[in-house]
Amino acid sequence: MNILLKGGRIVDPSQNINEEMDLLIEKGQIAQIGKDIYKNAKGDSALKILDLGGKIVVPGLIDMHTHLREPGFEYKETIQTGCEAAVAGGFTSIACMPNTKPINDNRSVTELICRKATQCNLANVYPIAAISNGSEGITLTEFGDLKDAGAVAFSDDGRPVMNSALMRRALEYASSLGIPIISHCEDTDLSSGGLMNEGFVSTELGLSGIPNIAEDIMVARDIAIADYTNTSVHIAHVSTAESVRLIREAKKRGIKVTAETAPHYFSLTDEALRKYDTYTKVYPPLRNIADVTAIKEGLSDSTIDAIASDHAPHSSIEKDVEFEYASPGIVGLETSLSLSLKLAAEGVLTLDQLILKMSTIPAVILGIPKGTLRTGSDADITVIDIKREWTVDINKFRSKSKNSPFNGWKLKGKAVLTIVDGEIKYSENFE
Ligand code: DOR
Ligand code: ZN
Repeated sequence: MNILLKGGRIVDPSQNINEEMDLLIEKGQIAQIGKDIYKNAKGDSALKILDLGGKIVVPGLIDMHTHLREPGFEYKETIQTGCEAAVAGGFTSIACMPNTKPINDNRSVTELICRKATQCNLANVYPIAAISNGSEGITLTEFGDLKDAGAVAFSDDGRPVMNSALMRRALEYASSLGIPIISHCEDTDLSSGGLMNEGFVSTELGLSGIPNIAEDIMVARDIAIADYTNTSVHIAHVSTAESVRLIREAKKRGIKVTAETAPHYFSLTDEALRKYDTYTKVYPPLRNIADVTAIKEGLSDSTIDAIASDHAPHSSIEKDVEFEYASPGIVGLETSLSLSLKLAAEGVLTLDQLILKMSTIPAVILGIPKGTLRTGSDADITVIDIKREWTVDINKFRSKSKNSPFNGWKLKGKAVLTIVDGEIKYSENFE
């Protein structure tokens, strides 16, 4: 079915477009963008016409940091439920981290994820494979084979590579294959035993802390290795002011570093932990207000290139326990866009900058042919109603897991239509 999106405001930073236009989808691809498409196509009965007056039409959002829990932890999330949550949140593509069971450190796991995602036929799923076998930080995985099987990046997410020599080789091999390394920056000796941000609040609560330097040191290390080896590195979920400063300085010096943060790092501080709510437990931990301010500055001045959800589903088995024993992680696929739109409302980012960080730039970093509404590209499109007010209700999540500290938050702006490959995968209230 061909679709005409009529009268929306098209915001596509990849082509510097921000104006009201029609968009025609034919055979799963973007056939045309222009002012008068509707006028000329009116009589075409084979065309599904959607009137988008007042809504924003953007390149399908890309979440470059998602945890789908399949294989191994299907009770927390499956590829199916994760993809349902993705399209409901406006994401047409997601890249999934390797900390499944078994770990995605060999081609059979990568292929399994790709196969299952194809069966789901919802969002595009791009597997991220492990840097080291078993994510044990000892021997590198078969990068070439994994790339061949469909992996778009390598990461140590959840189990950081402490061995600097191994990280050096990982960066060198990955760069020779033109594939990114996504580094979870955490010195596990410094973070060991920590439950939350180390500071005033952790002292008051009597919870052991994770100092900012656990992250900062590894950001500095990875930048130093990237500089020395002339390779590029992507820093995952930046949470501290010093990380932002280090990345900003490195970029100024021409070092090839890119970075992402997640909505919880600009939406909450460690004050949110005062009720010992395990849904606020996450690694890296929620930091203090100075860090949140620095994250926003980093987003605003392009030090931080991307916003990723770090969607980390956990069930009540892992979360309805004492704070100390709870697994870290926050689900984000269904709240990321709306929390990020707050940045646009606050004037931290323009809408164009926001779409750059949630679509165009993630596509470039991952090297995938997405993130644009250019004629001839796959019709992956998100329609946003920026005026729509809604209240987060974890019981309505498509995700199998409910671990969101944003439950009950009143938010403004929401994805109302998600199109993947020219097919409507999610639609709300205007058909
Ligand atoms: O809080 C986190 N949860 N941080 C990580 O790095 C991993 C993630 C998970 O897989 O649950
Ligand atoms: Zn991580």
